Amino acid sequence: MKIAIIGAGNVGGALARNWAAAGHEVYLGVKNPADNKEWSGIANLTVCSVKAAADEAAVLLVALPVPALVPVAQELGNMENKIVIDATNAVFAKPAPYETGYHVFKALTGADVIKSFNTTGFENMANPVYHGKGIDMFMAAGSQKAKEVVRLLASDAGFEACYDFGGEDKVLLIEQFAMAWINLAILQKEGRDIAFKVLRR
Ligand SMILES: NC(=O)c1ccc[n+]([C@@H]2O[C@H](COP(=O)([O-])OP(=O)(O)OC[C@H]3O[C@@H](n4cnc5c(N)ncnc54)[C@H](OP(=O)(O)O)[C@@H]3O)[C@@H](O)[C@H]2O)c1
Repeated sequence: MKIAIIGAGNVGGALARNWAAAGHEVYLGVKNPADNKEWSGIANLTVCSVKAAADEAAVLLVALPVPALVPVAQELGNMENKIVIDATNAVFAKPAPYETGYHVFKALTGADVIKSFNTTGFENMANPVYHGKGIDMFMAAGSQKAKEVVRLLASDAGFEACYDFGGEDKVLLIEQFAMAWINLAILQKEGRDIAFKVLRR
């Protein structure tokens, strides 16, 4: 699958490497494509401008700092036929006047937006395997089409399952769920090598 990753930091970089290694064609959208040394020699990975990455792929993953969300969504404009995966968390401030990255991209691009790949640390996105078993990913969205794509991409990244939190009314809940991981890992000092998994009896 062709995937555009917008934002090449901790989360974008981890998923770019992971999906490229799984055989997806990854377009990493960055501010300065000429400064691409970190990414040279990685198979299936092309560094380009944000707009060029978005033009290449029907599926985008957004891994930007919150203040960049509105300007980047405005720059990209209409993306009605694309799927946007919002991996961001408004930890310190909301992307005003919107509640989350999901709402920014829905309002400003008209894409099929889904919130996922936001609920765990970037180290777990680089390697989701604990004791030989994949941890779980979670998602919330109004779009079934987007959920099918995210389920596949979670599996290709090494997650065991991708649980559906529900529709658009669960987008704020899944951001709060991410805050639960952040609280345990960072504020309560459990460390970043922890993960959530659904167990069944
Ligand atoms: N870190 C985690 O474990 C984690 C986990 C889940 C979700 N998240 C969420 O994911 C998002 C990204 O987090 P992160 O830790 O990956 O942040 P990060 O390491 O700071 O990466 C963000 C990247 O976005 C780039 N960027 C900023 N403005 C841009 C623009 N206008 N156009 C193109 N690229 C731009 C930054 O480039 P410059 O450095 O050049 O500005 C940087 O490479 C945040 O919303 C965060 O809450 C983070």
